[in-house]
Amino acid sequence: MSNTQSLYHLIRDCLSKRAPREALVLHSQIRRQGECVVLSVVPLLIKACASLSMFNHGKALHAESVKSGSDSDVVVATSVLGMYAKRGDIVDARKVFDFMPQRNVVSWNAMISGYLAGNDTLSALSLFESMPERSAVTWNEMIRGFTKIGDMAMAKALFDEVPHEMRTVVTWTVMVDGYASNGDMKAAREVFEEMPERNYFVWSLGMWDVGKEVHLSICEKGITPNQYVLNGLVDMYAKCGDLATARSIFEGMPQINGVCWNSIISGFAIHGKCREAVDLFRQMEHAGVKPNEITFLSVLSACAHGGLVQEGLDIFSKMHKYGVTAGIKHYGCIIDLLGRAGRLKEAFDLVKSLPMRPNATIWGSLLGACRLHSEATLAEEAMDDICHTGSSSDSYYSLLSNIYAAQERWEKAEETRMSMLDKGLEKIPGSSSCTLNGGNYSL
Ligand SMILES: *[C@@H]1O[C@H](CO)[C@@H](O)[C@H](O)[C@H]1NC(C)=O
Ligand SMILES: *[C@@H]1O[C@H](CO)[C@@H](O)[C@H](O)[C@H]1NC(C)=O
Repeated sequence: MSNTQSLYHLIRDCLSKRAPREALVLHSQIRRQGECVVLSVVPLLIKACASLSMFNHGKALHAESVKSGSDSDVVVATSVLGMYAKRGDIVDARKVFDFMPQRNVVSWNAMISGYLAGNDTLSALSLFESMPERSAVTWNEMIRGFTKIGDMAMAKALFDEVPHEMRTVVTWTVMVDGYASNGDMKAAREVFEEMPERNYFVWSLGMWDVGKEVHLSICEKGITPNQYVLNGLVDMYAKCGDLATARSIFEGMPQINGVCWNSIISGFAIHGKCREAVDLFRQMEHAGVKPNEITFLSVLSACAHGGLVQEGLDIFSKMHKYGVTAGIKHYGCIIDLLGRAGRLKEAFDLVKSLPMRPNATIWGSLLGACRLHSEATLAEEAMDDICHTGSSSDSYYSLLSNIYAAQERWEKAEETRMSMLDKGLEKIPGSSSCTLNGGNYSL
């Protein structure tokens, strides 16, 4: 690879790591060597200039691309357009737009955003009308533009026209926020209540800010959300670990269905509040709501992580009563639970009596527990079983070898390592670790 080529890789690398300044420094090094600019890097460099507000540098790059003829490239031209629009230089942006031999949806969106940033909804609308194809971003930007200048009638008209597949949680939120910030709380509530249930479930960590903002704004304005909205909020707060808020919404709910119980129990379970998860499970039973396999999995994994052996076994025995079939993951929790508590014999017996073939996770969990409790005899027995099923792997040998090592039985440890190499399983013990039901065992 030539020197210049490797510099270009470095530039790309800088930009992907959001280090635009470093990218520009590298670029000037290339220029000093008298090399010309590789087309695909130009838009990135121009974006870097725009993000750093280094408009003169950006203009120089633009001039260079005109000289080399690469300004006719759609991506290069769009990045130039975007740079001008960003600095509010809408006339130059439009010049670039008009001279583009071809445009894509991103070019149109950039031009429209430029107009909307300056509150010129009329010019934005005229471009919008003549667009050959629109994206979800186009619609969201247009609606936001009209809400910003307080033209909610136009915003609503556009909102109603948004094609079904482009109406995302962002679109809904733009509308709700638009009404709210223009003081029309009644309309904000109506749109909020109409928002389909599924949208709430995309409020995972990434949408946390949006969700919280919408929630705060409905609280402030005294809107009473419906059941779906409440379920969504509980789920969102529980997933994000804001358990106090999740719980306070949950407790204020007039009706709680199974889905919502599952959200709150798994929230507490995932975030290590094991006893609370078990208590909630009991409240669920008490309320007469039937737990399903998801409920059991959450609460059993809470028991395993919290070392709540008796609770876990009690709950596990209830699965039958509720007509829920235990799957390999439920068994995995119990094996983990027994294993961690040092009840290795029971764990092993359970593995042997499984109605399904134990997979690597189950065996790993058992051997991990043997390692934890330095229990070599049982581990050897388990290894025999594993070898018989023909599913031996390097990790098992590593675990066994480590169990011997922990007991200072060096010869056995070495022997195990050798037989691992013999079988062509070449991983070097100590070089890796595996996650077994949430526990981390070094191999
Ligand atoms: C656009 O309009 C909003 C609302 O009237 C105003 O706050 C904002 O400053 C305006 N922006 C520009 C660039 O004129
Ligand atoms: C074992 O089965 C469980 C449940 O299907 C699964 O989650 C896990 O990934 C499996 N483990 C391996 C190593 O395949």
